[in-house]
Amino acid sequence: MLAGKTILLIIGGGIAAYKSLELIRRLQERGARVVPVLTRAGAEFVTPLSVAALAGGKCHTELFDLTEEAEMGHIQLSRAADLVVVAPATADLMAKLAAGLAPDLASTLLLATDKRTLLAPAMNVRMWQHPATQRNLARLRADGIAVVGPNEGDMACGEFGPGRMAEPLEIAAAISAALGAGPLAGRHVLVTSGPTHEPIDPVRYIANRSSGAQGSALAAALADLGARVTFVTGPASVPPPAGVEVVRVETAREMLAAVEAALPADAAIFAAAVADWRVANATGRKMKKDGTGQPPKLDLVENPDVLARISQLAEGRPALVVGFAAETDNVLEHASAKRARKGCDWIVANDVSAATGIMGGAENAVTVIDAEGSESWPRMSKTEVARRLAARIAAALAG
Ligand code: CTP
Repeated sequence: MLAGKTILLIIGGGIAAYKSLELIRRLQERGARVVPVLTRAGAEFVTPLSVAALAGGKCHTELFDLTEEAEMGHIQLSRAADLVVVAPATADLMAKLAAGLAPDLASTLLLATDKRTLLAPAMNVRMWQHPATQRNLARLRADGIAVVGPNEGDMACGEFGPGRMAEPLEIAAAISAALGAGPLAGRHVLVTSGPTHEPIDPVRYIANRSSGAQGSALAAALADLGARVTFVTGPASVPPPAGVEVVRVETAREMLAAVEAALPADAAIFAAAVADWRVANATGRKMKKDGTGQPPKLDLVENPDVLARISQLAEGRPALVVGFAAETDNVLEHASAKRARKGCDWIVANDVSAATGIMGGAENAVTVIDAEGSESWPRMSKTEVARRLAARIAAALAG
């Protein structure tokens, strides 16, 4: 399924480099040609000879190789590929790319390419969690760079946590998806995300604590499976992922209009925390204290329910409509009732009571409710929840 595709594979320095040798094999099995580049640090873990032997061609290592420059040049090397893959992507390589530095061949290729780039990060768990790495990751995603993994598990350094490079088969799947060959290729999926802001006056608004993390992760996971994703987002604190079409809105009414404009879609996932109410008497001028000590009266009116509207469309309803239910008590009961009331196919229920730390946090514990019944998943990262949901959505659309 990767026949005729050329993958420029940059192998960074890390113990996971050995898995990249297997990745070369897996890509060749799928018909791809792999052009390998080994960084100086990568060569401490695997040899240029073994990389070249597996790839069946030259293993590129140095920036200032004059014959190479004359024959081909690093710019051409980075452009002759269909996709640039970095596996393992070290904290150092990610930092260089985020900063736009190009001190060696690998980073120069990353800067010079006009093709999509996919990173498979691998590093110690503390390095992964360091604010600098997370800042770089957000920057890179915002720049349109795709990321697969890292996975959570035991690490070569003896620690446990996120930082293990994704498995070669997972990377091969992400490569297929990045090249438009995933199970959702040709499908259009709509995702709403983030909070909405409902103005009171030009400086004040009603909002909620949604960070947009689950919606962003979901949009990324769907795009990774090859879907064309329209991402309608309120003012979230987590940036939208790379490779999706972003439509920014402020209010619930703007969200509804953006969603309607984005149809038709094969599936629509409503992960936004939409404000139920807006201020009917919002003013165009800043509200002033009137000196009486009396607080101003805000008249609230109900916002349109975007999920219910789309679920109940007589014409042009997406084949699969998924809602989220943020509850603090009787989670299953309330969520099932919400599914019936709004008319969506699935409801993804989660407990957002303060003690769970889910709202605004990195993890989620969800129960997926559909016509058949309910399925509770253990607590896991929002990224993992997104991957599983995206896979479930792909399976439902295929079936
Ligand atoms: N939703 C929406 N438009 C709204 C309100 C909610 O699209 N105006 C969607 C959310 O994106 C989510 C689902 O409806 O997918 C459930 O939202 P939630 O806020 O949990 O439920 P409510 O409709 O507010 O119900 P309740 O107030 O009873 O909790």
